[in-house]
Amino acid sequence: MMTKDDTEFLAQTGPGTPMGNLFRRYWQPALLSKEIPAPDSAPVRVKLLGENLVAVRATDGTPALIQERCPHRGASLFFGRNEEQGIRCIYHGWKFDLTGQCVDMPNEPASSDFHTKVKTVVYPTEEMGGIIWAYLGDPEQMPELPKFEWAQVPESHRHITKVTLETNYLQSVEGDIDSSHTAFLHGQVGKTDLEVSSKFFDSNKALRYLWARDKAPKFFVIEAPHGLTIGARRDGGRDHYYWRITQWIVPSVSMIPGEVGGTQRCNFRVPMGDTDHQFYRIDYIPQRPLTEGEKYDFETGTIHPELIKGTSKPVRNMENDFLIDRQLQRSGTYSGIRGIVEQDYAVAASMGAISDRSTEQLGTSDMGIIRARRVMMRLAKHLEDGGEVDAHMDGDIFYMRSPALLVEKDVPFDVGARRAMDAEEEWSREVEWASVMPVLEDEDVPGVKA
Ligand code: FES
Ligand SMILES: [Fe+2]
Repeated sequence: MMTKDDTEFLAQTGPGTPMGNLFRRYWQPALLSKEIPAPDSAPVRVKLLGENLVAVRATDGTPALIQERCPHRGASLFFGRNEEQGIRCIYHGWKFDLTGQCVDMPNEPASSDFHTKVKTVVYPTEEMGGIIWAYLGDPEQMPELPKFEWAQVPESHRHITKVTLETNYLQSVEGDIDSSHTAFLHGQVGKTDLEVSSKFFDSNKALRYLWARDKAPKFFVIEAPHGLTIGARRDGGRDHYYWRITQWIVPSVSMIPGEVGGTQRCNFRVPMGDTDHQFYRIDYIPQRPLTEGEKYDFETGTIHPELIKGTSKPVRNMENDFLIDRQLQRSGTYSGIRGIVEQDYAVAASMGAISDRSTEQLGTSDMGIIRARRVMMRLAKHLEDGGEVDAHMDGDIFYMRSPALLVEKDVPFDVGARRAMDAEEEWSREVEWASVMPVLEDEDVPGVKA
């Protein structure tokens, strides 16, 4: 049972907080590369872990992340002039280079060397996979960049949407690792299990049926260097279980189960303040570019949300009750809210900006969430006590997948899924069905013909 203090402990990520210190040990996505598209393009505001920053791309193309508040008298550098490898405050013209050093103070006497004594905060940044990454922690503890597979594939293989959500990061992370909500929140009504599941998967009929039919998966959780590997086990016919595996990565990343050889999915939840976060939704296909049809699906608001033009705010949001359609709720979808991200957002935001965990009644299906909270709390306290976290220093540990697949009943899921979790494997649809995923015949699964 979590107390109110525990909730605050996990929810707060500003400077000096225990969770803030833990987050600051990891590279975090700060913004999309395309938000600062060209050298000397306009500065962009970035709110990250309770800090107000400004992102710029310098004259030579290098990205930089600078404290928004000018050290002189506090004007915002968002309004600044991005010029000649630095940013100049529009109030009195002070200029800061990419290290944060003040290099020009045109309103001070030419003989003054005061500018050499003024430095502002600039955080290290790297560009990888269409994202500008930032490291806000102790330079001595800086890890390698996390080698996520989606960030290594060509740009044509992935689609990323950045969404600003007005709720604490943690309740959304908890939704990402809660596989049991999918058949409800994202489900449909008035249809057979097969009709429902064909919306979500393009694999064989029997497999789709299994997902929709078994609405009470059993959870198995294994601690791993990256965080947790969470297996949700569903009935898989005569000889198998159907496993949907989520990789939860400390502190706030989840890899959502994807079919072997199909679309893979990764969710980043990056705290802005304590009551909002940036959500990066990433879909990719390791083996090939996305088709025009797949891109269309991602851009038109079913799997990725529909955004208010020119913003990262969803069209369907808290202010308009997510445009819930009660008629649709009666006869079409379980929620009556359009869009999977919006459905997740609606339930997370409805808990309050920071959900009070002390009144929860957790069941067996919440086991992944319970374990993830424990791991976060343990690591943050360990840091508080002067300990270190270092499992993530090697960027290769993030190079993995989170498959959905059949495993023979007498084989532990992490053993049966080992190849499918390894991003080094060269999968294709043909390999999938031939060597990993037994082809289920309809008669293997009682009821599939119904
Ligand atoms: S406040 Fe920025 S130069 Fe004066
Ligand atoms: Fe969901």
